[in-house]
Amino acid sequence: MADQQVAAAETSDLKPDTEKNGPLVESATDGAKPLKSKKKKKNKQQPPQESQQDGGTGSGAAPDQDSAVFSTAAGQQEEIASGSGIALPGRGQLPSQDVLMNVIEQLKLSSLKPAKTPEEALNKSFKFWSTQPVPRMDEKIAVNEPIEADKPISEIREEPYSLPEGFTWDTMNLEDPLQLKELYTLLNENYVEDDDAMFRFDYQPAFLKWALQPPGWRADWHCGVRVVKSGRLVGFISAIPGTLNVHQKTQKMVEINFLCVHKKLRSKRLAPVLIREITRRVNRTGIFQAVYTAGVVLPKPVSSCRYWHRSLNPKKLVEVKFSHLSRNMTMQRTIKLYKLPDAPKTPGFRKLRESDLSATHKLLERYLLGFNLTPVFDEEEFRHWFSPQEGIIDCFVVEDPSTGEITDMVSYYTLPSTVMHHAVHKCVKAAYSFYNVSTKTPWLDLINDALISAKNLNFDVFNALDLMENRKFLVPLKFGIGDGNLQYYLYNWRCPSMQPEDVGLILL
Ligand SMILES: CC(C)(COP(=O)(O)OP(=O)(O)OC[C@H]1O[C@@H](n2cnc3c(N)ncnc32)[C@H](O)[C@@H]1OP(=O)(O)O)[C@@H](O)C(=O)NCCC(=O)NCCS
Repeated sequence: MADQQVAAAETSDLKPDTEKNGPLVESATDGAKPLKSKKKKKNKQQPPQESQQDGGTGSGAAPDQDSAVFSTAAGQQEEIASGSGIALPGRGQLPSQDVLMNVIEQLKLSSLKPAKTPEEALNKSFKFWSTQPVPRMDEKIAVNEPIEADKPISEIREEPYSLPEGFTWDTMNLEDPLQLKELYTLLNENYVEDDDAMFRFDYQPAFLKWALQPPGWRADWHCGVRVVKSGRLVGFISAIPGTLNVHQKTQKMVEINFLCVHKKLRSKRLAPVLIREITRRVNRTGIFQAVYTAGVVLPKPVSSCRYWHRSLNPKKLVEVKFSHLSRNMTMQRTIKLYKLPDAPKTPGFRKLRESDLSATHKLLERYLLGFNLTPVFDEEEFRHWFSPQEGIIDCFVVEDPSTGEITDMVSYYTLPSTVMHHAVHKCVKAAYSFYNVSTKTPWLDLINDALISAKNLNFDVFNALDLMENRKFLVPLKFGIGDGNLQYYLYNWRCPSMQPEDVGLILL
């Protein structure tokens, strides 16, 4: 099928908002029903687990137990366990028509539902992703190379993919405060939520500028979709340039992020059009590979990581139901458990300065050589990503008091989440671990100082993935395991998958 036809087919049931859904609501939170089980879970802590207190490694998280349950004609509860086939009445009994219809309905639903586990994904047909240069779910891979060869630019279509009538592409100008605010609002009302629709990421405008305008950024990679009549922004996807090392090969790529479709326009195949369009715009510049992360399982993760959460303000986290009091724990004991010293302890631990940039860049560059999937920052990029900016990115170094040498670094970015239904608390302020290097200060001391600095900056929680060397400190420093995986993907690249500890890349 020609590209244009594919895109048209993708959106054949996508109608302007007013036709199918009524007018788009002013605020997605105003009386709108919270969506369930739709999106990547990045930010909620599982009820505290006994094993964590016992010093478990954190690698043995229980698999998702999602399964659909339906009533049989006989009134029994039977299970359609995800990926394990269908339970039918016992031997000798014929399934009634109702039961069969129910089974068919469940199968249809499960093939539409995003997959949360590799097992679910293995049993799913990916109408869009099966047309893309990504490995199949069941593919065994021993090579490390592009899936498709680069194309000459003359072979990349010049015209944008067609959107259904009533919608139009718009390249966002983030220099314009009004457009930046529009993007902020789209994401604030429609971006990633936890499965129980209690928290939603609240990327701040200044953060979005930082995330979307690193060295080499391009306006046409800030790709919006608007309703023609109202001008309203209802979809977005972005790319930023970067260089990655994948299993020792260095490859120019883009990082894809902030894919978002307005809640009122979901499940209408708009996401594949956004993905095709950003791919076209990136291909036009001669780049054919991308990296991205998602909470859902698509063909085919290169790694699967897990978020862990360290309470800094346990009282608030319990109040908003981000975490629960453990068995036999009172609030007072919980507060005591998570209490931190008033100030960092490591001599020479201080905020990164302009004059540290070069040494700290080299420290990180050397450190990242030990992993299989890492960014390659030049000096300008390092300055962009690590220069401290209040409410966006914090970076600290340890300067050896006797030699003046920079021996260690920690960094974390600021990403609040909106608390969707709470009378008092409207927001949880979270710090997300970025890149950390320990060469002299032991990991536990270094990250404990990061926790103390984050507490002093008023963060409620400190989040970290189980990648790089993070597993060394998660359990000892009282992080609790989160309830969802973050999958890492490469577009148009085939390589062996890797364990979280071999991943050295953080996307925002
Ligand atoms: C993610 C989102 C844009 C998908 O849109 P949608 O309306 O639910 O789905 P659509 O009908 O447009 O498209 C479905 C296709 O997109 C794919 N898809 C869904 N989520 C995806 C993701 N995060 N990344 C890439 N592809 C995704 C589906 O697998 C499906 O393709 P398939 O037929 O090959 O399985 C939308 O749910 C959303 O905005 N969610 C909140 C924000 C979010 O989670 N963004 C992604 C962050 S990683």
